Amino acid sequence: MKAVFLTLLLGLICAVQEAPAQPESSEITGNWYTIYMAADNKEKIEEGGPLRTYFRRFECIDNCEKLSITFFVTNYDSCTLPTVVAERAEGNVYHVDFMGKNSVQLIRVSESMLVFCAENFDGKKTTNVTYALGKGSSLSQEDIQKYEEINNERGIPNENTEDGTQTDHCPK
Ligand SMILES: *[C@@H]1O[C@H](CO)[C@@H](O)[C@H](O)[C@H]1NC(C)=O
Repeated sequence: MKAVFLTLLLGLICAVQEAPAQPESSEITGNWYTIYMAADNKEKIEEGGPLRTYFRRFECIDNCEKLSITFFVTNYDSCTLPTVVAERAEGNVYHVDFMGKNSVQLIRVSESMLVFCAENFDGKKTTNVTYALGKGSSLSQEDIQKYEEINNERGIPNENTEDGTQTDHCPK
């Protein structure tokens, strides 16, 4: 009994440390909302910042070889709703141009949270930015903890996190 438990536990630990697998099409396609966002260069996601984005929807195209991403960007009171199409480069990394060049990875942490991780290069500076995406307007404690771990791996301090639900005034 003990041995079985230990095996399960070790299995879990290894599963957590493995590189994230590419999520299935059905796990990506759908409506997703920005619950939190965080960046190592915090000005990029602050009010008026170019990477302050409120996600709305993902669609996998061609078995996720392409990924259509719909989100709001805000400039103080105005909301605009671009759709961009990211193309899979290698493994689970996508490339898309938006406010510079972006390498994007989607991590499915749980049924209730996807983390959108991007490295943005604006021509001068590289920014690591992440978005915790959920289905409603909050996340479980486990999801939040996992999100913080992902940010730590990317050199993003916890205090550089913004609560997206508090400032998203764009149409749902
Ligand atoms: C940004 O994140 C990547 C992992 O995606 C990491 O390898 C890199 O060190 C991070 N950059 C900084 C400046 O910490």
